[in-house]
Amino acid sequence: MKTSLVDHLACPICTSGFTVKATKKRGSEITDGVLICSKRHKFPIRNSVPRLVVDDEKNFVKTESAFSSKWRNYHKTYHDKKWYDAQKKWFLDRFGWQTTQKLNKFLKSRIHILDAGTGVGNSAHWFSSNPDSQVFAIDASESVVFAHKKYGDIPNIHFLQADIRNLPFKKNFFDFICSDQVLHHTKDTESSFKYLTKFLKKKGLVSIYVYKKKGPIREFTDDYIRHHTVNMSERDCIEFSKEMTDLGKSLSLLKKNITVKRDIPILQIKAGTYDVQRFFYWNVLKCWWSDDVPYQQNIATNFDWYYPKFAYRHTPDEVKKWFRDVKIKISHFQEIESGISVSGIRN
Ligand SMILES: C[S@@+](CC[C@H](N)C(=O)[O-])C[C@H]1O[C@@H](n2cnc3c(N)ncnc32)[C@H](O)[C@@H]1O
Repeated sequence: MKTSLVDHLACPICTSGFTVKATKKRGSEITDGVLICSKRHKFPIRNSVPRLVVDDEKNFVKTESAFSSKWRNYHKTYHDKKWYDAQKKWFLDRFGWQTTQKLNKFLKSRIHILDAGTGVGNSAHWFSSNPDSQVFAIDASESVVFAHKKYGDIPNIHFLQADIRNLPFKKNFFDFICSDQVLHHTKDTESSFKYLTKFLKKKGLVSIYVYKKKGPIREFTDDYIRHHTVNMSERDCIEFSKEMTDLGKSLSLLKKNITVKRDIPILQIKAGTYDVQRFFYWNVLKCWWSDDVPYQQNIATNFDWYYPKFAYRHTPDEVKKWFRDVKIKISHFQEIESGISVSGIRN
């Protein structure tokens, strides 16, 4: 942890400021120590990362540990350059920036940035282009350790283990908050979003991506399977995810298309010609396969769907209402098959 981070933090229990005691340092970096707030709440610093999760919600731990196991098993492939570039491109497209230049231009006017649910830190890296800004990248899982190993030396990025529903910052602090593919994994997507926006300054921008509700067959199958998989051991769920990956691959190897002649509204299936694997994937069962990424990455994508305790899906109308409720004006809205990407500005 960089020593300067302490000036920006607020105790997640009582919101008072912290002092830091280092027990081990590497240069100016505190690798081990403790944060103590003025009301004596204490939080450890381990492996250079301050640990600020207050585990007072029974169900929280399962989410955190599911993702810790995902990142432990698959962090290398998520840091791979091919994945990094593909994810960045996808991010720029979904949120309407389109190019790195446009994102960087936007970031020039943003000083305090929150990457809420950073995973292995790739997005924190994208957001750090303005050297005058400070990027605070949080995640509830152990991913922050892998993120810190990869990007922790960059002077304006801080990694913290913290809960999106109990943030260690003062309200109205951030100029830009991004929570990409995270909120639907919290205990309650809507209340997590609304809580997060309290930390946004006036004129600040918040960007979120949440899973979209699919057609009824896929929704039914997801609920049915996840009911089993979220309670499996990590190893069993990895095995199950491999089975889904192999099924997706077999369907994909068919290299066949099917044509649906007319819309089937009751099943939310649109007329069109589809690759068999894609049709099966979007309408029946999550069995992800892509030739463009390594086998392990395909398994990780299926595991990511089946293991986390919470994985809510939402409609465009629901998401629009959340923004209206907190008086954040939507400046960008994009709906794709998998999810909804929305940005909005606080009045
Ligand atoms: C699907 S990953 C997305 C990671 C990253 N944003 C990306 O797009 O690659 C979801 C992340 O949300 C984190 N997460 C889930 N619930 C959280 C919470 N309550 N507080 C902070 N992070 C949370 C998980 O640990 C996981 O790393």
